[in-house]
Amino acid sequence: MQTTNRTATAVACANIAFIKYWGNCEPDSRIPANGSISMNLAGLESRTSVAYSSNLKADRLFLGGEPAPQAVLERVSRFLDVVRTVAGIQGFASVESENNFPMGVGIASSASAFAALALAATRAAGLDLPEIELSRLARLGSGSACRSVPGGFVEWLVAGCEENSAAVSIASPEHWELVDCVAIVDREHKRVGSTEGHTMAHTSPLQAARVDDAPRRLDICRQALLERDFEALAAVMELDSNMMHAVMMTSTPPLLYWKPGTVTVMQEVIDWRSSGVPVCYTIDAGPNVHVITLADHASEIIGRLKHIAGVLDVLSASPGGPARLITE
Ligand code: PMV
Repeated sequence: MQTTNRTATAVACANIAFIKYWGNCEPDSRIPANGSISMNLAGLESRTSVAYSSNLKADRLFLGGEPAPQAVLERVSRFLDVVRTVAGIQGFASVESENNFPMGVGIASSASAFAALALAATRAAGLDLPEIELSRLARLGSGSACRSVPGGFVEWLVAGCEENSAAVSIASPEHWELVDCVAIVDREHKRVGSTEGHTMAHTSPLQAARVDDAPRRLDICRQALLERDFEALAAVMELDSNMMHAVMMTSTPPLLYWKPGTVTVMQEVIDWRSSGVPVCYTIDAGPNVHVITLADHASEIIGRLKHIAGVLDVLSASPGGPARLITE
């Protein structure tokens, strides 16, 4: 086995799923119960550096400059073990990761963080993996991270429970000027994270129906994206988000992520769309609402969202590119 003292830094965007991943058919390797489609979020990024050193006695992890909690360090260390095995190297690593977006705003940092980590850790280990293999690797850290490796609009392909499930780009960031306006209605840290939530999905009697119908929703969403058909996209995106939350609410124990402000924003968005504005919502494992619109309408929508009582702030992002290496 070789030892290495190389360093690499990578940046990856967060992503928002239009068709959601919820529940695994194989939890340890995060093989999802259904496929999903997402948009990378430009400018909402994690930046991660990995430095292997023969002098280290254990892996180290700093998040935003602070030593990470033990459980997070162990998750990252298990991920680095996979990279070390594939690369055939020895030596622990010092990992530094930071996000340029605030925590607790309904944007999962695990997707961007593990996508950036997969790229930085493999490059520092001397590997230059094809994008699909990098996506597959990122999946082992956090499922949705596999969608932050390719650029633009991305589909996480699933065929049965197969081990090599990974994500590919289905359209470039320039393909369609959509904007995600994230309405923040609550900043509290969620009590049940997605890793735990996935394990509960099968306890809902609605999960089997959600999973069975997923190929149909994926087809509609993919076609709507490729044809830039906002009306079709809006209908399937809201349906899919509602179905995931119906599963969450009917799991044992039940998971209710919504707050009063969540429902207020959902109702406003439905009213705006029925009056002709191209706008729709989707909600991840938290109370904040991702309001999707076209670039020409973004400033109007952000203004309207800021006027809703209970909306604390609004972030916005257009379609983002793939995970990329930074040369220092
Ligand atoms: O990748 P995870 O384990 O953080 O799960 C993501 C789950 C959702 O954000 C709710 C849906 C999705 O597809 O991103």
